[in-house]
Amino acid sequence: MRRPVHSMFGITLLCAVAVGCGDGDPSAPAADGLAYYSSAASAALGAVGNGATCATCHSNDGTPRSGDTFRNIAYRTSFKGGDAPTLLDAANACVTGWMGGTALTATDPRWTALQTYLQSISDRSVTTPNTMRPEVLANEAAYETMYAGGDATAGAPLYARFCGTCHNSTLTVNMSRAVSRVNLRSFSVGRIAQKVRTAGPPPSGMMDMSDSTPGPMPFFEPDELTPTELRDIIAHVRSAM
Ligand code: HEC
Ligand code: HEC
Repeated sequence: MRRPVHSMFGITLLCAVAVGCGDGDPSAPAADGLAYYSSAASAALGAVGNGATCATCHSNDGTPRSGDTFRNIAYRTSFKGGDAPTLLDAANACVTGWMGGTALTATDPRWTALQTYLQSISDRSVTTPNTMRPEVLANEAAYETMYAGGDATAGAPLYARFCGTCHNSTLTVNMSRAVSRVNLRSFSVGRIAQKVRTAGPPPSGMMDMSDSTPGPMPFFEPDELTPTELRDIIAHVRSAM
């Protein structure tokens, strides 16, 4: 059997960056796949300097982040609200769009390892696609009206959970650094809300010149972050720390 050159490269990279190469079986797939989910090997699927891993945006335990959880992700019949017919297509939308990397192929050992990991945390009977319903309002003023008046105290732990992962460490996503916690204070309620609801590549952002909030920050749908939670986060972000 002919071995593609990039497969050897993938394994070398994994050994160097992620798990170390002890006496374990180098093809132990779920363990390798975990590295492509949440370690430096995952970030390296993106642009040079990208710090975001799949785990930055997708949990593996059922809890929401900006993306749907990976628990039970693998056997759904379509992805991204029908835009992505296969798991690989959906993953590649993130690898190329949010992380700024090169699309993986079905036989790339980095992908087969990651897929094996995703299957290992998925139940075959869960096949219904996740919904994709971003909250797109007319303009920044409409977000300002909807998201004014939150509770800054209630927003503190929510900020830490949903935003602090990137903003507290000014994480580089694709090639852009997240704004620092202090600098977030200078944005208006409407600007922050519109950014959180519509940032990123699909369905708006980088691909759509009319959107005012492009950039690699991911958007959060209301089923991941409720309007009340976002209102409180915004009040917290705009308060003194
Ligand atoms: C910067 C954030 C970010 C990163 C990094 C990221 N994703 Fe995503 N991903 C999203 C968002 C946002 C969506 C679309 C909406 C959703 O899933 O809620 C999404 C959607 C998906 C979906 C489709 C979910 C569904 O059921 O429709 C899959 C599969 C996926 N991502 C896989 C990956 C994989 C694999 C990686 C790592 C190689 C990755 N993503 C990295 C943000 C991200
Ligand atoms: C996956 C990492 C990540 C998460 C999670 C995240 N952000 Fe961001 N954010 C970024 C990056 C990177 C930028 C700079 C690039 C850009 O504008 O997309 C940014 C930019 C912003 C901006 C600047 C908008 C502008 O007009 O320049 C605001 C405001 C913001 N984020 C608020 C938030 C809030 C509030 C949350 C939590 C609900 C959040 N972010 C969650 C990565 C993230």
